[in-house]
Amino acid sequence: MPAFKIAVIGGDGIGVEVIDQAVRVLEAAVAKTSSKLSWTKLPWSALHYHKTGVMVPEEGWDLLKQHDAIFLGAIGHPSVPDHIPVHGLLLPMRRQFDQYVNLRPSFLFEGVESPLRDKKPGSIDILFYRENTEGEYAPVGGRLYTGTPFEVAIQTNTFTRRGCERIMRAAFEGAGKRPRKKVTSITKSNAQTFGMVLWDECFKKVSGEFPEVQSSSLLVDAAAMDLVRKPEHFDVMVASNLFGDILTDLAAMVTGTIGLAASANINPERTFPSMFEPVHGSAPDIAGKGIANPMAAILSGAMMLDHLGLASASLAVRDAVARVLKAGNSRTPDLGGTNSTSEITNAILAGL
Ligand code: NAD
Ligand code: IPM
Ligand code: MN
Repeated sequence: MPAFKIAVIGGDGIGVEVIDQAVRVLEAAVAKTSSKLSWTKLPWSALHYHKTGVMVPEEGWDLLKQHDAIFLGAIGHPSVPDHIPVHGLLLPMRRQFDQYVNLRPSFLFEGVESPLRDKKPGSIDILFYRENTEGEYAPVGGRLYTGTPFEVAIQTNTFTRRGCERIMRAAFEGAGKRPRKKVTSITKSNAQTFGMVLWDECFKKVSGEFPEVQSSSLLVDAAAMDLVRKPEHFDVMVASNLFGDILTDLAAMVTGTIGLAASANINPERTFPSMFEPVHGSAPDIAGKGIANPMAAILSGAMMLDHLGLASASLAVRDAVARVLKAGNSRTPDLGGTNSTSEITNAILAGL
């Protein structure tokens, strides 16, 4: 019986609430297979940092490496400045474990209403490949003359040929497996003439390696507009770290709610564990109320099962979520309902 070791970092706020529910669903789905999941629960979070002064203990990274995957809720708490947990755990994890592919699907499920008029189920079906290790998030820069009127802050975008080409190749490979076989690259080379021009040059080169896949390039401002004007037009989108971050929140809303947006931070070479987390954050505004939508975390868990080779359990989880959405009688407030986080989980478990 293959057993997979999963490191679980619920994090802060609704991160913990949704991950606890997702673990219940994944347990139930895998119980029907010959595999097993074992969970290592880790308390690392912004709140934990507030209490202990430690974000990740010294041996923490080695401990994570001993796992087959990492399942994360969200980190961020009003008691701690956001850059501390983000630069102490989340971004170092994506870089150290070379999780350079951030896969983020946006799909309009049956039974979910888009805020855009007259959108049919399945008509919006976008798969984002967000670059996850460099670009605008590279910790390159510094501050000078701190606290004086002459203060300077420099934040340097860092684009490498390797970094651009590998995320683009992943996007083209992914698009080749989808019916529409189309990749749109998101750029801003009209304004950012170093990094984004290199990005465009890499896109041109990599698109030449995949003649069977249609390719086009779109400026990020126009892409924001078109995600509202004609989201059906997009199939695979490949974007830099920051552009991908922003557009995936937008696409999440266009497909109904951030409460359904799943993501996978993949190390394709499998040298390191990949990490699975919902797109959303710790949502301090609703934390502790028991009303967070657990579906984004559950769908992220389904992506984790797929990554572990448990394809049928993964599909079963996704189908169970889709059936609850279609039935329409169990919904958290973000979807216009009045159900609690655990009631949604119960409905999904019943469907499994
Ligand atoms: P957020 O995603 O936490 O919340 C934005 C809005 O969406 C809020 O109104 C929230 O109530 C709602 N929302 C989010 N998830 C929901 C869900 N599952 N169900 C229902 N409603 C949901 O973004 P924010 O408010 O900008 O950030 C809050 C904190 O989370 C910050 O500290 C931020 O840095 C952190 N954050 C962490 C991660 C992560 O750990 N991966 C991701 C994003 C934000
Ligand atoms: C996300 C989050 C993170 C990001 C933050 C918390 C740094 O918004 O995963 O989308 O920007 O990558
Ligand atoms: Mn984000």
